[in-house]
Formats: sequence, structure tokens, C-alpha cells
Amino acid sequence: METIFENQIIPMPRIGDKAPEFKAVTTQGNIDFPKDYNGKWVILFSHPADFTPVCTTEFMTFAKMEKEFSDLNCSLVGLSVDGLYSHIAWLRTIKEKIEFRDMKNIEVKFPLIEDITMEVARKYGMIQPGESSTKAVRAVFFIDPNGIIRAIIYYPLSLGRNFDELKRALIAMQTADKYAIATPADWRPGEDVIVPPAGSCGVAKERMEAEDVKCKDWFFCTKSLPLN
Ligand code: BEZ
Repeated sequence: METIFENQIIPMPRIGDKAPEFKAVTTQGNIDFPKDYNGKWVILFSHPADFTPVCTTEFMTFAKMEKEFSDLNCSLVGLSVDGLYSHIAWLRTIKEKIEFRDMKNIEVKFPLIEDITMEVARKYGMIQPGESSTKAVRAVFFIDPNGIIRAIIYYPLSLGRNFDELKRALIAMQTADKYAIATPADWRPGEDVIVPPAGSCGVAKERMEAEDVKCKDWFFCTKSLPLN
């Protein structure tokens, strides 16, 4: 996959790739990405523009949930192709004036990258000219503690993200890493997980006989995880 920008072909990062490196100015100072986040999960996300309503609701929701993400060892980093002073003015306006659902007086404390040159947005395939060549789409990159891209979700400009899903996806990936399992459709924390399919006849037999595994067939086995 690639995007073509001013006749230049830019490959789009994929799941399993190392997160492209960049240095940037943000509303919380300079960052060296992903180096500054070694050992942590990061959600790097783009939004189309400051002072737009859908983006405002998204930032308020992310800011409200920031503690939930940091409790999961996950930092949030936002980006749009606006400048630093626009970012600062927008975040101040959100805190001072905007109410949405049960949220008001919301302070955005995570970094918001200024990317007027679109250098970072292009590196991450956030500019998708079929949707807009002047604004980033709503991209979400989940980057693991080793700096590897683990999941990517894109939304069009008109669609505000579902933040419960972002949190669910993060927990599911962390759970899969910790227990070497997979998670089924619509999995929620606390529910049974999928035991990866057996790779040999011997393993298939063992699995069908194991006490802690529930199998409907040799390839379809689930188990519960310790409560934590
Ligand atoms: C918004 O965030 O409201 C928005 C941004 C760009 C296009 C459409 C909506």
C-alpha cells in the first residue's frame, strides 16, 4: 500500500512494521518518536483540523479517558496539519467554552503534534487524497512497547471514532501478548478467549483432552483466563 503525493510514492506503514521515526514540536514540548515512548504502548492518532466539531468531541473524549489509557501503560499522541498556535488556541477554547455530553472544563494534557509541512502525516499515510489532500483522515496507530505497529484503524472525516473500541482493542492486544491467545468477535475483558488452532495432530489431540480448555471441535477451543 502506498500514497502518491506530488508524484512521490510514499509507502504506507503496515501492521508489523517499525513505527516510522520523526522529531516534532507538540503542545507539550518536543518529542522524538517513537524513542521517547520505549517500553510503553502509544496510540498515535490524527484528526482533520483544529476548531472543528467532530474533532472537538474526540479530543474531549480522549482527554477524559487519558487516565484509563495510562493505567494500561498507553500514552496518547495526537496530530493534525495545523500549527502550534492554532493547537494551543483550540485546546484553550475547548477547556473554557465547550460542553459535550457530561464533559466540560476538559483539559487536553497529552501532546498534540504540529505538522504544517505534513511530513509526519505523509509518513504515516494519514493524508488520503481521495478523502482530502489538505487534511489528515482520522487514523489510529497502536504502537507497542517495542515500537512496532500492531493495529491501524482509519475513519473518514465525517465519522467520529468509538473510544470504547479503541480501549477494547488495546486491552485485547495486551491480553493476547500476555497469554498467547486470540480474542473472538466482540470480545470484552473477562470473557473466554480463543486458544490458537493446533498446528499438529498431536497438539489437536492433547487440546481436546485438556481440562482447562473447552473444545467444540479440534480447531475451535476456548478457555477462561485468571481474573485480573
Ligand atoms: C469535524 O471534525 O467536525 C470535521 C472535520 C473535517 C470535515 C468534517 C468534519
